[in-house]
Amino acid sequence: MTIREILKMGDARLLRVAQPVTEFDTDELHRLISDMFDTLQAANGAGLAAPQIGVDVQLVIFGTNQINPRYPDAPLVPRTVLLNPLITPLRPDEENDWEGCLSVPGLRGVVPRFSHIRYTGFDQYGDAIDCTVEGFHARVVQHEYDHLIGKLYPMRIRDFTQFGYTEVLFPGLDASADD
Ligand code: NI
Repeated sequence: MTIREILKMGDARLLRVAQPVTEFDTDELHRLISDMFDTLQAANGAGLAAPQIGVDVQLVIFGTNQINPRYPDAPLVPRTVLLNPLITPLRPDEENDWEGCLSVPGLRGVVPRFSHIRYTGFDQYGDAIDCTVEGFHARVVQHEYDHLIGKLYPMRIRDFTQFGYTEVLFPGLDASADD
């Protein structure tokens, strides 16, 4: 069990465009993914991108097979490891909903995201992934993908009247939901 430090907004390493993974199924990659799942679980996050722990590669993990106390009303997103992702919006429609980020602790904001997307990429063994998703699942993928191109969700906010401290916006939320 290795919990890595999560970089916070303001750290220049969160603003890089990450490098593609070129070698799959290596011990180094498996260790990194294991550390990322430990870190994500300890933080009760919905997803985590390698740049958030200072590793400059196109790797994101998201999902869980149980309800997340930080997002108690969110539908389940299956546990996924995704490398070198590409996203294609399938409709022009956007949906607004609240997001938080482990690199932006204590805050939430309403972010527009495409409602329906297809994403492709590879798993840790180099096997192809090709998924069509919508709603919260599509939102999580777009949020994590953004970390690979140096974007944090506050950069996507259009209406700053819907951006603030979680404890003020959602006073009833689970006490462990500090970010
Ligand atoms: Ni994030």
